[in-house]
Amino acid sequence: MDVTIIIPTFNEAPNIEILVDRIVAVMNSGGVEVVFVDDSTDNTPDIIRQVAARSTIPVRLIHRDDPVGGLSGAVREGISSSTGTWCVVMDGDLQHPPELIPVLLASGAEQHADIVVASRHLHGGSSTGLDNRLRRFISNGSILLTRAMFPIKLRNVTDPMTGFFALRRDSVDLAGLRPRGFKILLEILARGSLVIVEEPFVFGKRVAGSSKADLRQGLRFVTQLGALRFGRLSGFAAVGAIGAIANVAIMAGLQAVGVWYLTAALAAALVTIVGNFVLLEHFVFHDLREGGRSGWIRFAQSFVFNGSETALRTTALWLLVESLPVSSLLAQALLLAVGFVVRFVYHSRVVYRP
Ligand code: GDD
Ligand code: MN
Repeated sequence: MDVTIIIPTFNEAPNIEILVDRIVAVMNSGGVEVVFVDDSTDNTPDIIRQVAARSTIPVRLIHRDDPVGGLSGAVREGISSSTGTWCVVMDGDLQHPPELIPVLLASGAEQHADIVVASRHLHGGSSTGLDNRLRRFISNGSILLTRAMFPIKLRNVTDPMTGFFALRRDSVDLAGLRPRGFKILLEILARGSLVIVEEPFVFGKRVAGSSKADLRQGLRFVTQLGALRFGRLSGFAAVGAIGAIANVAIMAGLQAVGVWYLTAALAAALVTIVGNFVLLEHFVFHDLREGGRSGWIRFAQSFVFNGSETALRTTALWLLVESLPVSSLLAQALLLAVGFVVRFVYHSRVVYRP
């Protein structure tokens, strides 16, 4: 196959047939296949099989029972299942016009591009198909923010959030992707050094069914941005900051009811060590958890290290408070900052070593 058209689907049954018909109408010259990467809970896979049986171009179905990485994970799976020179990624709800596919491919070939982005924000494009003003506002705001965060990589990209693009298969390092949420293109652009061109298009109205974008996808997008820009350090810092605030609050609370400051510091440490581990597992190193070691071993490594770090830090706290005119809370805050860096290095290099 020269071209693989990848369509992630989640409950898109009513849209499949029209979509394939419109693709066939413009891509009938051979060497083209369509791959649906489907995470549906309805009868979408049956419809895809029926359409595949009578289609004049090959239609494959990858149905995932374990939809890792959501929409982005589905796109990665589609790309990795392809063997041709180009992959085209598009939505399954007809908001992306199939008639643009030949335009994207021609433009990529002519301009020797690695990726051709279908943009709603180039002259001639439009995003009026987004359901309402609020969504358009959020979408435009996130594009501004994202371009500000990646000024060089996204210099010529007016629509890094689009889900419609053509990609030269060998220009992307699939193993290096950590797909999360909805915005796989952003990750591909942010991690690679690609020759990018854009073509305008009009983002249509969804034909049937409903959008799967929601607040959770929005939050994933924000953590994805942070992770892409600052690496894991930003997530680790967020967890560390929550832990430090909780730690100082617990210590202050216990001292307020008369507990000696060192006992209070130890109690605060126990609570935060366990809490931090849970947060790190779920939000910061979630993609490295299958690295071989079991959760209990990771917990033991993390607990022993943080426990020792706390013991050392508490000794240092005692030495500081007893020998210098410094408040116990301020000393604790300073020592936590040093401990933060040490713990980040240990967790990245040892506990979650990829
Ligand atoms: N396999 C799979 N798994 N597909 C999914 C999932 C999932 O978890 N979630 C959504 N999809 C599919 C949908 O079935 C649809 O084909 C496509 O991904 C886009 O999802 P929509 O629910 O239609 O999202 P949208 O219209 O709000 O967002 C689209 O527009 C954005 C631009 O504003 C998407 O195309 C985004 O990629 C695009 O950036
Ligand atoms: Mn849509």
